[in-house]
Amino acid sequence: MQNLDALVAEAEAAFAAVTDPDALEQVKARFLGRNGQITGLLKALAALSPEEKKSEGAVVNRAKTTIEAALAERREAIKLAALEARLAEEALDVTLPGRKADKGGLHPVTLVMERIEALFASIGFTVADGPEIEEDFYNFTALNTPEDHPARSMHDTFYLLDEKGEVAQNVLLRTHTSPIQARYMRAHVERYRDRETMPEIRIIAPGRVYRVDSDATHSPMFHQVEGLWIGEYVSFADLKGVIADFLRRFFESDELKVRFRPSFFPFTEPSAEIDMAFMGESWLEIAGCGMVHPNVLQSAGIDPEKYQGFAFGFGPDRLAMLRYGINDLRLFYEGDQRFLRQFA
Ligand code: DAH
Repeated sequence: MQNLDALVAEAEAAFAAVTDPDALEQVKARFLGRNGQITGLLKALAALSPEEKKSEGAVVNRAKTTIEAALAERREAIKLAALEARLAEEALDVTLPGRKADKGGLHPVTLVMERIEALFASIGFTVADGPEIEEDFYNFTALNTPEDHPARSMHDTFYLLDEKGEVAQNVLLRTHTSPIQARYMRAHVERYRDRETMPEIRIIAPGRVYRVDSDATHSPMFHQVEGLWIGEYVSFADLKGVIADFLRRFFESDELKVRFRPSFFPFTEPSAEIDMAFMGESWLEIAGCGMVHPNVLQSAGIDPEKYQGFAFGFGPDRLAMLRYGINDLRLFYEGDQRFLRQFA
């Protein structure tokens, strides 16, 4: 009876010597392929007697099974090694520190606007708004500024072009937040049309406004917060009280240097500008205000014999300059992180 241990050992050694799957299949062919050694031995059995066939066949088949098992084991091992190599190659160093997302913060002007809203909310003002692309009517006409009124030229207006490239009629980038007064009053009158006495109007309206203007204290886009209080007995004394109280709370100081300076606005009579001491010596204008002109009330459908009130328009950019001690308004709009990060 032949001893196939040497053949089995040879096959095992040959399998162990290769490290990639293709080479392994080549080696397999040498033993188990059509012309392989085991196949040859099996074919040779045909010439033997039935007894010999039985005993020799068992020996050859045992060797074949052992070689097949060795092959399968080696296949697995090669596959596993490949996987391990790949894992090592693609390994992530989970101990590397991550890249941090920068923490955002609110813009200083936004912080100031929110502060203004909160302070006025505490004395019963709600927030209203209106469109930035405004109708000429609301921006001027409804505010007692008819077409030929010289006050229109106080606002160096941005006009808009239509599809044909011509100046669009009757719309512009709003030059102030005052048109929200006109819109709100109209809507209010409409809402309470059926009542004998209209409830008070007490709103503030923050937003962006646009004028052709640019220097250290002016920017072509800036912000305003409009205020409006209309009722039966709202007086100029109330205006001064509300403004003074607001400024004291806004700047957290009772020692503010504030002045009301007589001025002109078409939509108020009398009118004043409010200035605050700025950087020691000079004054910085921070708001316009006044008693709402009877023509403005009338244009909204409010009876000026029965109702009166005041309006004001603050420049929150200017308030932000004062609050944070900033001497150039343009810093707010340059997007310089070194500047903005200080407020985050
Ligand atoms: N709209 C004015 C401006 O932009 C500011 C202003 C003045 C608003 C007086 C008012 C007001 O409500 O009463 O120059």
